[in-house]
Amino acid sequence: MASLSVDHLVGIKELSKEDIALIFQTADNFKSVLNRSIKKVPSLRDITIANLFFENSTRTRLSFELAEKRLSADVVNFSAASSSVKKGETLIDTVNNILAMKVDLVVMRHPNPGAAKFLSEHVDSKIVNAGDGAHEHPTQALLDAYSIREKLGDVSGKKVVIVGDISHSRVALSNIFCLQKLGAEVMVCGPTTLIPKYIHELDVKVEYDLRKALEWCDVANMLRIQLERMDVNYFPSLREYTMLFGLDKEFLNSLSKKIVVMHPGPINRGVEITSDVADSDQAIILDQVENGVAVRMAVLYLLAEKIKRED
Ligand code: CP
Repeated sequence: MASLSVDHLVGIKELSKEDIALIFQTADNFKSVLNRSIKKVPSLRDITIANLFFENSTRTRLSFELAEKRLSADVVNFSAASSSVKKGETLIDTVNNILAMKVDLVVMRHPNPGAAKFLSEHVDSKIVNAGDGAHEHPTQALLDAYSIREKLGDVSGKKVVIVGDISHSRVALSNIFCLQKLGAEVMVCGPTTLIPKYIHELDVKVEYDLRKALEWCDVANMLRIQLERMDVNYFPSLREYTMLFGLDKEFLNSLSKKIVVMHPGPINRGVEITSDVADSDQAIILDQVENGVAVRMAVLYLLAEKIKRED
């Protein structure tokens, strides 16, 4: 049986095109399970998973927990706000104490870039990165690409623009890696202050005019402005950002072709997109969320298969 080339999912950068194809093929099977009246399979009955969230989350945390429960895994949840991390315990000590309770796999969101990779090198458990600072958010990129494939038939050859706060976005970086591995053309668009200086090393197109970017693309992924990661002002006001980089229905309707609109959530309605765009038939935002459960089931299942083979 085919297996992943990696022992952990710390980033899309480490995955091969074949790994992504295997995850999508496995997710297709789980998506059909999720559409049945009994949405549960016994695949991870002997596996215990700890969800460690050191940063806020709604979609990713609930999506992982549902994916784990649909696979019949035992699940424990940890949030930094109510843990002994507040008393000065290190990340490695915290995780090793959790692993001593016979946990097999750790899903972690952490504010520090590289935290998931660091953990994968220092503890005896499979690690899944649920977002590490402004670095990577691999399962978000996988579910985004999976949703494009579902909507447009294929990712290869498609033109995807990622709009907004590229500098502070782990979704942007993981999406760039994932879409390029699958043969899409990628553009970023946003204020000059929110496009990182290293962008040219990533082989993506850069556009500062939203109309030109949207006329070019098949798919627009509209990112949230990450005010919580900004220590200085990167633009004069949210109102000015919206005037230049926000998408409303009139703008969407004025384009020469019908594009697909995506958003990783959480949405700031009226800032990056208006409600009538978010709720329009061109938006696949809730499809992304739905697909997230199947994609995360696939990732967990494939890593758990490796654990079972190692035992
Ligand atoms: N898309 C995403 O990561 O959302 P959460 O922060 O709610 O998990």
